[in-house]
Amino acid sequence: MTTKLLIFGISGDLSQRKLLPALQKIVSGGQFDNLEIIGVSRRKLDLHALLSSAGVANLEAQSSIFSMDMANIADYRRLQASISLKQDDQLLIYLSVPPVATRQIVSLLGEAGLNTPNVKLLLEKPFGVDLISAQEMHEHIDRYFTDSQVYRIDHYLAKEMAQNIATFRSGNALFQHVWDNRAIESIEVVSSEVIDIEGRAQFYEQTGALRDVVQGHLMQLLALVLMELPGKLDWDAIPKKRLEALQYLHPADPLRAVRGQYKGYQQEVGNPGSITETFVSVELSSGDPRWQGVPIKLVTGKALDKKTTEIRINFKKTHEAQGDRLVFHIQPDEGVEIDVVAKVPGYEQKLEQRPLSFAYPEDAMLPEAYEQVLVDAIRTRKSLFTTSEEVHASWRVLQPILDAWNTNDTPLFVYTKGETINWPLKNLFE
Ligand code: BG6
Repeated sequence: MTTKLLIFGISGDLSQRKLLPALQKIVSGGQFDNLEIIGVSRRKLDLHALLSSAGVANLEAQSSIFSMDMANIADYRRLQASISLKQDDQLLIYLSVPPVATRQIVSLLGEAGLNTPNVKLLLEKPFGVDLISAQEMHEHIDRYFTDSQVYRIDHYLAKEMAQNIATFRSGNALFQHVWDNRAIESIEVVSSEVIDIEGRAQFYEQTGALRDVVQGHLMQLLALVLMELPGKLDWDAIPKKRLEALQYLHPADPLRAVRGQYKGYQQEVGNPGSITETFVSVELSSGDPRWQGVPIKLVTGKALDKKTTEIRINFKKTHEAQGDRLVFHIQPDEGVEIDVVAKVPGYEQKLEQRPLSFAYPEDAMLPEAYEQVLVDAIRTRKSLFTTSEEVHASWRVLQPILDAWNTNDTPLFVYTKGETINWPLKNLFE
């Protein structure tokens, strides 16, 4: 079986930084020899230069470029005719394009017959800009592709440690017994970045941190923590469980959300009055009886002092001197850590806090999230992709914040690039 992978937006940032390097790793792993990569581009591109700039020149043998006008149906027909699929072959169409372009490309693909059952459509976030636009986008795609053909990418779900959340919970009796509000005091999902918006001014001005990172990435990590576990680990059952967890969340209270912007952002985007947030902290709660009374915080920001994504599960103490935290380190230094109190060796009866940790060996090669995404799409494994229902459930929770922020009266605090923001940011909620 040959897989033909058509990438719309091959010269874009995502493709250069993530997709092409991921493809190179997949190909060099030797398991996917029958993979052909076709880059679709408006401009005539020099294939060698394009691949070299992404550091993947050795993909040249199985790659080609198809130049076309993405608004012209005749070009889609030409594209369709040039891709001849044999009976067992499959075509993966990866849309790495701005959200505004997705709608038209999807309809033209459909009209040109590039939506037959052996075609899979891989979509990048953001899936809409709010609940209504996400629903409209879904209905539009639904006209041309069946749900089983559509792969909505949230690369955080494909991170190795994100996959380990369900594995740890399910595979270790210890966790099963303490996974509810009787034992857990609060949950924090935190993702801080050192990078700023890195020249993505137009995209970021229309998006902001809530849409860019919270709506998809952090809500998905949270769902993995809150969801009911299907008895024995059954990956195919997980999307439905994630959905139920998201559906249990109450609509967010805008008064419990904080937005911030780093100094210098307005100059970077050339908009002196911009109120787009580069930092956000949101407090949520769940209506699931299992999580009643457990505050949940989701926090993300750009241009902070360190790159880290972690989930902190804080346990209720029965006396002051206890260790009380379990941390999933999603990245970097992937692993799991539990604070434990131990006796300091020696004659004294002193105690100290030490980590009990699980980490991968230093030479372990963890696949990049985009490798996993591509491999799973090739193999028709959908558990690490987000469903349209999950997307809608997540927007529904965050919509009150979007509405409140649209009115402009929510304060926007300003922070300096490289600032340390101390978790769990209690002061921001007082
Ligand atoms: C992307 C966002 O989805 O995720 C970026 O658009 C963000 O703004 C990135 O920087 C973070 O991904 P990762 O895998 O580097 O944590």
